Amino acid sequence: MNNNNPIGVFDSGIGGTSIWSAIYELLPNEKTIYLADSKNAPYGQKTKEEIIALSKKNVDFLIENDCKLIVVACNTATTNAIQELRAAYNIPFIGIEPAIKPAAHNSKTQVIGILATKGTLNSELFNKNAEMFHDTKIIEQIGHGLVELIENGNLNSPEMTRLLDSYLRPMIEANIDYLVLGCSHYPYLIPQIKKILPEHIQIIDSGEAVARQTKNILREKVGFSNTEKSEPVFYINSNPAVLTSILDSKYSVIQKDF
Ligand code: DGL
Repeated sequence: MNNNNPIGVFDSGIGGTSIWSAIYELLPNEKTIYLADSKNAPYGQKTKEEIIALSKKNVDFLIENDCKLIVVACNTATTNAIQELRAAYNIPFIGIEPAIKPAAHNSKTQVIGILATKGTLNSELFNKNAEMFHDTKIIEQIGHGLVELIENGNLNSPEMTRLLDSYLRPMIEANIDYLVLGCSHYPYLIPQIKKILPEHIQIIDSGEAVARQTKNILREKVGFSNTEKSEPVFYINSNPAVLTSILDSKYSVIQKDF
């Protein structure tokens, strides 16, 4: 291992690029390898065992590519598999979990909403964390169908607006003042979500927090940072068109079976 080894980032698909962007912005000299397991998306409806197996497959690929640190840019994979990954591999992992804490601490109405996958909302890790905020009412909503629409390039479709509206209206009626985006695909929906939510409701996602944590772990545990600037590398195991377009065609995307 040396300074110039890459940071690996994976997600069930293209959504984790929202986390990758925050990392790239904070650590522009770090080489990054992004892995989109779109062939197996969505992870949200899979069993814990399936999510662990897919996460291990992704980690094996990143380790074969000499990654010095791995960011699990997927709430579903983090909440279902990060303990098993940490136990199985001798490499630092950074996970992403729904940001309930800042929402609960800052909420004035003491009602917050969370939109996430079924796999995240049903996980033990998420429920253990949520229990710590018993003074706050947490309205949980599974984002059925949202990841599929994003993966298929239907971000701005009437179907997306209809689904978001049906998930967010009951939260508005319940008087939430914070909405936590508990899936790394959902930051791409912020423009549509803002059209539905009244202005006083704040939207929180975890991208910047994960980037800051990546920087800290790099300093404390890995002990070395990249000195030479290099282009990020993106791998996907299905059609690369939607990933390419979400990256504004700025980077090349490699289609590969993994
Ligand atoms: N982007 C992922 C997350 O943060 C998973 C979406 C899915 O594959 O269901 O939860």
